[in-house]
Amino acid sequence: MNTFFCDLLLKWDKKSNHRPMPWKGEQDPYKIWLSEIILQQTRVEQGWAYYERFVKQYPTVQKLANAKDNDVFKLWEGLGYYNRCRNLLFTARHIVNDLQGIFPTDYDGLLLLKGVGPYTAAAIASFAYNLPHAVIDGNVFRVFARYYGIHTPTDTKEGLAIFNKIAFENLSKNKAGIYNQALMDFGATVCKPMSPLCSDCVMQKTCSAFNQNKVGQLPVKLKVIQKKKRYLDYFCFAVGNKWLIQKRDIGDIWAGLFQFYLVEQEKLVPANAIYFKEVLVNQLLIDTNAIKVQIPSKVYQQQLTHQLLLVRFIKIELNAIPKAFAKGKWVTLNTLKKYAFPKTINSFLAEEGLLG
Ligand code: ADE
Repeated sequence: MNTFFCDLLLKWDKKSNHRPMPWKGEQDPYKIWLSEIILQQTRVEQGWAYYERFVKQYPTVQKLANAKDNDVFKLWEGLGYYNRCRNLLFTARHIVNDLQGIFPTDYDGLLLLKGVGPYTAAAIASFAYNLPHAVIDGNVFRVFARYYGIHTPTDTKEGLAIFNKIAFENLSKNKAGIYNQALMDFGATVCKPMSPLCSDCVMQKTCSAFNQNKVGQLPVKLKVIQKKKRYLDYFCFAVGNKWLIQKRDIGDIWAGLFQFYLVEQEKLVPANAIYFKEVLVNQLLIDTNAIKVQIPSKVYQQQLTHQLLLVRFIKIELNAIPKAFAKGKWVTLNTLKKYAFPKTINSFLAEEGLLG
């Protein structure tokens, strides 16, 4: 056990760590789990208010388990990566129905929960039960890569083994919760990815990267994430004051959310009469006389981890519900607000002043 790093970190935590967050010091495994799921792909500043709303609306795992799917999706709206929300509901119900409403009390039990990986299991085990499990996230890779001068890429098997070993060796075994939180806070506020605060840092004297002037080069990552462009055209059909919405049931990141009629293209297709005729008349068999196409919206962009979405909205006014959508869900603007939509749809609705 190497206590030098740990002692420095805990001293820093006591003296200089001023980072209030609503889940800090929390010991209820339900609330810790909730905060960790929210924070899995979300920045603290954004997750904060969501966490508070969730805890207020669903203060216990029982309340969350008994909630209606759409209400939970609605509260999650805007956070993205909706798999997390589906797993949240699944796991809450599993705990209530199969585990007598009691969270697992050890690391291995936590790891069995859907949506809980090694990082989240270590976070819950250490924060809720003070068990000696080290959390390893981007912050932790960065701090250790710099402090120990490790050039092995973090996203390789070899790198992972090295960082796992270091993380466990440095972990405070009797203050694991405080230590883990301190390490994350240190990575987020001092040993930051850009412009780290080295000149004031308590680790400076013993930090390998600082002493070798390599802070900017560490940590090393092997893979550059490939970003795919996706072109999504939403055809927003309206008959009178009713709009067509459809539940997305394909197992992707938006499963369970609602959307307008979607046409995905390989490239940005010119928004002209030829294109509209192809979709509306040739594919959907809508009578040309019944159609009034409005000018398409601007292209909305959303950057996800692996893809860039380029999204357009084309409002189509019809004078009757076409056969293709006879069984569709047609809702008024007032009702529209109650459904959970992907982020770009909400941006469009807000910009058009359609959310009231
Ligand atoms: N990211 C994930 N978990 C966190 C936590 N407990 N505090 C700050 N950032 C986090």
